[in-house]
Amino acid sequence: MITIKTEKEIDLMREPCAIVRDTLAYVGSKIKPGVTTKELDEYAEKYIRSRGAEPSCLGYCGYPASICASVNEVVVHGIPGDRVIRDGDIVSIDLCAYKNGFHGDGARTFLVGNVSEEKKKLVRVTEECFFKGIENLRAGTPLYDIGARVQRHAEENGFSVVRALVGHGIGHEMHEDPSVPNFGKFGTGIRLKAGMVICIEPMINMGRYEVDFMDDGWTVKTRDRKPAAHYENTVVIREDGVEILTI
Ligand code: MF3
Ligand code: CO
Repeated sequence: MITIKTEKEIDLMREPCAIVRDTLAYVGSKIKPGVTTKELDEYAEKYIRSRGAEPSCLGYCGYPASICASVNEVVVHGIPGDRVIRDGDIVSIDLCAYKNGFHGDGARTFLVGNVSEEKKKLVRVTEECFFKGIENLRAGTPLYDIGARVQRHAEENGFSVVRALVGHGIGHEMHEDPSVPNFGKFGTGIRLKAGMVICIEPMINMGRYEVDFMDDGWTVKTRDRKPAAHYENTVVIREDGVEILTI
């Protein structure tokens, strides 16, 4: 079931979403060669709690941390641990915060030091894919137009779109209907309505789109072990466009 949020509910969502935005920037400022992903998780958890919110990911289906920290060939859901960040890495940080009875969700991919031109392009194009996805998006837009736009931009740039994981609705629950794929055909899917709140999160691979699910139950890697990037925001569908809550 897809819920329509009232203006009052959307107002309540602003705070957890702002906390997600600020936590992403804060964690990003801590990413340097030598830091471990576990340390980044600790910074994030402390910061989220200092803002009176809870890290939604911690304990979600048994997930053991407050953020996902996915380095290079890890697409998403990298569990923070002893992995040391190195010069030339790309690190995606994905996190959710819960406050006022609602979740906010966002992700960014950060460049560490001297990153290759190809990886820089991957990160830039992944971010652009999000903005392509929301181009012309408003009440009445067919849901899969989002993915069609994301896919077109990724593939025009020689990259591929992960199929095995998708974006989602959000609200009282971190994952609500509908699923929001990053691929698809223009003109298909349900028509979005004003007041729907969704997370649009392109996961873009430098090589092929296939991914492997690791034995830890969470980590998702590219099958060809080439790098991947991730960028996500929580957005409200409006009559005349979208409102991005996590920027
Ligand atoms: N923030 C992720 C998403 O975009 C969810 C992370 S999965 C978790 O859907 F288990 F780590 F929470
Ligand atoms: Co999400």
